[in-house]
Amino acid sequence: MKTILITGASSGIGKATALRFQSEGWNVVATMRDPSAGADLGTLDNVLVTRLDVTDAGSIAPAVADGITRFGRIDALLNNAGYGAYGPLEAFSTERIRRQFDTNVIGLLEVTKAVLPHMRANRSGTIVNISSIGGQITFPLGTLYHGTKFAVEGLSEALHYELEPLGIRVRIVEPGMIKTDFGGRSFDFAMDETLADYAPTAAAMGRLFGKLAANPSAPEVVAEVIWQAVNAPKDRLRFRAGQDAHTLLDDRKAKDDVTFIGGIKDLMGS
Ligand SMILES: NC(=O)c1ccc[n+]([C@@H]2O[C@H](COP(=O)([O-])OP(=O)(O)OC[C@H]3O[C@@H](n4cnc5c(N)ncnc54)[C@H](OP(=O)(O)O)[C@@H]3O)[C@@H](O)[C@H]2O)c1
Repeated sequence: MKTILITGASSGIGKATALRFQSEGWNVVATMRDPSAGADLGTLDNVLVTRLDVTDAGSIAPAVADGITRFGRIDALLNNAGYGAYGPLEAFSTERIRRQFDTNVIGLLEVTKAVLPHMRANRSGTIVNISSIGGQITFPLGTLYHGTKFAVEGLSEALHYELEPLGIRVRIVEPGMIKTDFGGRSFDFAMDETLADYAPTAAAMGRLFGKLAANPSAPEVVAEVIWQAVNAPKDRLRFRAGQDAHTLLDDRKAKDDVTFIGGIKDLMGS
């Protein structure tokens, strides 16, 4: 029986993936900041709910050790925990900027580092990093979020060179707009009344998101893509999730910067 460790399994994509792998007969180490949020997952067979805050280095090794003690090994890691900091750069304190990168980038690296010695000893394992369409294209007032997701794309692609010879695979999953709490508690919007210069861009961002998020996919769509990514043939790096992800990223590939960004600006209009 195989085992996956998931970060941010309390809701959304992480939870849907925990349920998907459990239903396929995998063991699941469902990690989250507050394990009481995983009470329902914890009642399922072969699911271990344990605490892991990706920004709390001291919580990472014990969660990985718990998983290995309970299930014997970890075959796959899903780096899913993350949130979106949006707003004008000037509206963010240094602490808030750091929290975005600590969660979406440094936390992902630290969890990966904690699992690697085990996977390296096994000469086997798959690491799936949740990026976003926002790891390939950008939206206004997303300097911080897109900075983190572009980082996830680059670090994942680079990491795959050093892990592939050791039997460890890296996968990048790029969801489009997904119906989760990402736009709610996982959306850290910063604005400040002294920064009225940015108000028109904030309004344009609202119009753009209204259009792009009109038809979000279910988190189960991403869970299915993650399932495929973990079980895919050896040499594929990127996996999109959701029809909008295919449409937008195909369009991005087909166009030069000015043309593609012009299209985004058109969508920002009223
Ligand atoms: N929804 C979308 O449209 C969309 C699109 C592309 C990519 N994504 C990516 O998908 C991933 C999951 O988001 P979601 O859409 O499923 O939203 P979600 O339902 O709000 O889930 C976010 C998860 O991340 C967890 N998290 C946040 N900070 C954490 C930390 N420091 N340590 C551990 N866990 C932490 C949250 O835990 P708590 O319960 O403790 O808050 C929650 O479990 C994120 O990386 C996001 O960037 C989402």
